[in-house]
Amino acid sequence: MENKRGSFGNRFGVIAAVAGSAVGLGNIWRFPYIAGENGGAAFILLYLLISIVIAIPVMFAEFSIGRHCRKNVLGSFRAMNKGKGWHAVGYLSVLTVMVVLSFYCVISGWTLDFIKESLLNNFAGKDVVQHTAEFNGFVDSLNPVWWSLGFLLLNCVILSLGVDKGIERCSKVFMPLLFVMLLGLAVNSLFLPGAGEALGFLFKPDLSKISWEVVLQALGQSFFSMSLGMGIMITYGSYIKDSENFFNVGTTVTLANVFIAFLAGIAIFPAVFSYGIEPTSGAELVFLSLPVLFAQMPGGQIISIMFFLLLFFAAITSSFSLLEVVVAYIAEEFKVKRVWANAVAFVILGVSSTLCALSLQTGSELKVGGRTFFDFCDYTSSNCLLPIGGLLVAIFVGWVMDRNVRYNQLTNYGKVGTKFYGTYVFLIKYLIPLSIVLLFISLNV
Ligand code: PHE
Repeated sequence: MENKRGSFGNRFGVIAAVAGSAVGLGNIWRFPYIAGENGGAAFILLYLLISIVIAIPVMFAEFSIGRHCRKNVLGSFRAMNKGKGWHAVGYLSVLTVMVVLSFYCVISGWTLDFIKESLLNNFAGKDVVQHTAEFNGFVDSLNPVWWSLGFLLLNCVILSLGVDKGIERCSKVFMPLLFVMLLGLAVNSLFLPGAGEALGFLFKPDLSKISWEVVLQALGQSFFSMSLGMGIMITYGSYIKDSENFFNVGTTVTLANVFIAFLAGIAIFPAVFSYGIEPTSGAELVFLSLPVLFAQMPGGQIISIMFFLLLFFAAITSSFSLLEVVVAYIAEEFKVKRVWANAVAFVILGVSSTLCALSLQTGSELKVGGRTFFDFCDYTSSNCLLPIGGLLVAIFVGWVMDRNVRYNQLTNYGKVGTKFYGTYVFLIKYLIPLSIVLLFISLNV
C-alpha cells in the first residue's frame, strides 16, 4: 500500500514538504494583515500560545489518522469508522480546501503580477499614493482573474507529475531560499525610521486589546498557517513512513512557521509605519507597503523581483498541498487517473477563484453577508471551517479512534515520546475541544 501511494524519502523530505505546506501566504501575506487588523502584539501573543497548545497537538492527531490509514482524508475516516458518520469530516475538509483555494489562487495571482511589474521596473520612483492608485486599477481590471487561472493551471500540471517529483523536489529548494531572503529583508527594515514604532506594535502587547473575536482570529490564523483543520496533514501523514517521529517533524515545522511569520512582520511593519500606511489596511497591506519600500532601496528592482518570486514559491508549495486533498479525493474515490482528477479540480476551482477575484473590484455586487465573496471565503474558512475541522479531528482522535492505534501511531509503537503521551491525551481529549467550543459559545452570547 505504502509503495503504491508513494512516500516521502527521508526526514528532510518530510519536514520540507510539511513546511512547504505550512509556510506560505499565510505567514507573509495573511499574518501581517490579520495582526494589523487585530491590534498587533496582543494578537501575536495569543497566536503563539495557541500554536503551541492547540495547533501542534491537532497536527499530531491529523498525522496519526493519515499514517494509520494510508488514505486520503475521506477514505481515512471511512476506513476507521465504518458507516458511523465520521466520514462527513472528510467531506467538510474537501469543501474547506476548495473555499481556501478560491482566494489563495487570487493572492498567488497577485504575486505573479508583481513579479512581472518588478521585471518591468514599474514600481520605481512611485510613492504610496501613486502605487496605491495603480494597485487599485489592477484589482479593478480583469488581470487578477487571468493570473489566478494561470496559477491554478500551473498547480494542476505540477501535481499531475506525482507526489515525489512535484512537491518534494520543489519544497527542498524553495524553503531554505525563502528563509534567507526574508531574514535579509527583516534586517534591512530595522533601519527604517518607523522601525521603533513597528516593533512596539508587534511585540509590546496591550492586553486590553484582547477580545473573543481576537482570540478567534488568532486560532483561525494559527490553523490556517499550519494547514490544519482540513485534512491536509491527514493526507501528508499518509505519505510519512512508519519509522518517522511526528514530534520532530511537528515541532520543527511549527517553530519555523512562527519564526517566518515574525520575520515577515518585522520586514513589513517598519515600512507600513514609515510610509503612513494604515496597519488595518486589510488584504492589500503587504502589496501596498513593500513595493514602495523596494522603490526606495538601492538595488530595489532586483530585491523586488526576488521577493515576489519567493512569495510565489511559498504560495505554490502551499497550494500544492491544498490541491492534493482535492485531487487525491477525486482520484481515489472516483477511481480516475490523477490527470483527470486535476482537470476536474481545475474547472471547479477556476470558477470559484474567478468569483473571488471579481468580488474585489470597486462596486462589485458579489457579496455574502455584507462581505465581498473574497473576504467571505477568507473569513469563514479560517474562523469557522478550520476550527470546526480541528475540533472534530481532536474529538475523533481523543474519543473515537482505537486507543491502541492512537498510542502506536503517536509513540511509534512505544519507542518515542512515551513521557508526553499522557499530557497529549489530556490536551486532545479535554482542553482542545473544550476551548474551541467555549470560544464559539462566548462569541455568540
Ligand atoms: N498554511 C498555508 C499558508 O500559510 C496555507 C494553507 C492553509 C495551506 C491550509 C494548506 C492548508 O499559506
